[in-house]
Amino acid sequence: MSTFSHVRGLGFHVPERIYTNADLEKFVDTNDEWITTRTGIKQRHVVEDETCLDLVYGASVKALADANMDADELTHVIIATFTGDMPVPATSCVLLERLGIKNKVAMDLSAACSGFVYAIEVARALINLDPSAKILICGAEVLTSRVNWEDRSTCVLFGDGAGAAILTAGTEEEPGRVLDTLLSADGKPALNLTIKDSGSAHPYRLGDTVGKENFIEMQGREIYKHAVRSMTAISTEILAKHGLCADDVDVLLPHQANMRIIGAVGKKLGVPEEKVFVNVDKYGNTSAASIPIALAEAKESGFIKNGDLVLLTTFGGGLTWGASLIRF
Ligand code: UT7
Repeated sequence: MSTFSHVRGLGFHVPERIYTNADLEKFVDTNDEWITTRTGIKQRHVVEDETCLDLVYGASVKALADANMDADELTHVIIATFTGDMPVPATSCVLLERLGIKNKVAMDLSAACSGFVYAIEVARALINLDPSAKILICGAEVLTSRVNWEDRSTCVLFGDGAGAAILTAGTEEEPGRVLDTLLSADGKPALNLTIKDSGSAHPYRLGDTVGKENFIEMQGREIYKHAVRSMTAISTEILAKHGLCADDVDVLLPHQANMRIIGAVGKKLGVPEEKVFVNVDKYGNTSAASIPIALAEAKESGFIKNGDLVLLTTFGGGLTWGASLIRF
């Protein structure tokens, strides 16, 4: 790639309603102590009337304002999600209408929790093809619509939200430059995290009732091990590729799935705790929205400062994983 791609604006949006661990205790056999010690999660935001599109719109408007851009300047819209408003049309197409724009490229991207980092790389490739491209990428999920509230091993983990970024071409010296992204996937352990219904392998028939296959099913321990291994390996690889080491990283921003996973990856990489951004306590695991929400919040709060080298690292269903280096 020869053209430089830059993050120009960031924004996030979460629903107002909050379920604390104590709220969950009222309808599932769990407790704050278990959730806190096993995951680090204290609360999650949960939609009431909003859909994925509403969350995407909220995050996108903020990212556009942060980039000082009008929606009509956009050339492409890419939304990473597996809980869009409908399978068809793509949520990205409907977003165009909500933003009052048309004649843009719009597509949804499916890479589960890694979707936003995948979208960074797709945007970077598009900017390399056409340096005049101005691309909105968004990670958004309404996971609580796909949670089995009777399954304590999964329902305590997830939350709803959206985060967005604007990417455009720029010069090497400008802030927000994406240095590189590495992506990977392995279909062998694919069934460790599934939502089976409505796919062609599990088609609906008229009169079918809702079953467990309509909701997230997960082999937590298997995913946990894979998450630590894959995020550590790909982060090490991207740093080595650029002649960098853990000491060069100013901020490590991992997928916010579980505090123990985040801690283990930071420790294995040798990045001290104070450089690791964490907000899983407030939002739970928001899948594709997790990295952009964290990025927007870390920038807004001053955790990420001008000149900082930020290492994003992620993993998710598929299984998919990836890492990205950005110089702010
Ligand atoms: O973005 C990718 C999405 N997936 C993930 O990030 C998941 C990665 N995995 C994890 O984060 C962890 O594996 C979990 C948090 C899901 C589970 O933690 P764990 O330490 O692996 O627990 P476990 O599944 O081995 O369960 C330990 C015990 C079990 O009881 P027994 O068999 O030891 O008596 C579970 O039944 O904890 C029990 N348990 C619960 N207890 C209270 C499971 N869920 C709960 C709960 N409240 N919510």
